[in-house]
Amino acid sequence: MVRINDLMKVHRLIDDMFFEHQRALLHFEFEKALTSLEVYESTLIRHMQDEEEVLLPVYAELASLPGAGAAKLFFDDHEKMRGYVESFKEKTARLASEPDIDRALLQLLDREAFYLRLCGHHDKRETEFLYPILEDSLSETEKEMLLSEIDLSVGSSVEAITAV
Ligand SMILES: [Fe+2]
Ligand SMILES: [Fe+2]
Repeated sequence: MVRINDLMKVHRLIDDMFFEHQRALLHFEFEKALTSLEVYESTLIRHMQDEEEVLLPVYAELASLPGAGAAKLFFDDHEKMRGYVESFKEKTARLASEPDIDRALLQLLDREAFYLRLCGHHDKRETEFLYPILEDSLSETEKEMLLSEIDLSVGSSVEAITAV
């Protein structure tokens, strides 16, 4: 049975997907790097949608926390993350035709390192606030109802975590 906390396992899964993208970049396999980035993006977006449409509205009602736990920060992070991934896709697609590939690749990896730190802070905030507060504050029935709203179709977070 899937529990709310289990949805955090997607973080590790998507980290691994991003690593595959970066490994391909290091090997100058730019087509593979783009494909693996697209796989990463679709899993990330499904996960963020689950959080935005199902978990965060309930969390916002339960916990009107200031500072690091504020619900708005999670939405803002997601927006930034979508923007970064979009720009990484464009840069990866252009790499092979760059006049100075080494320089362009290093710039991309530098931006990606910055992005990964943002993701690290975001995941930490979810681990410290979003998931434990939902897990501790809701009844078993409420949790089951929430989970039943999470998309179970192909490529969804739940499918991803049950495959781990
Ligand atoms: Fe998350
Ligand atoms: Fe998130």
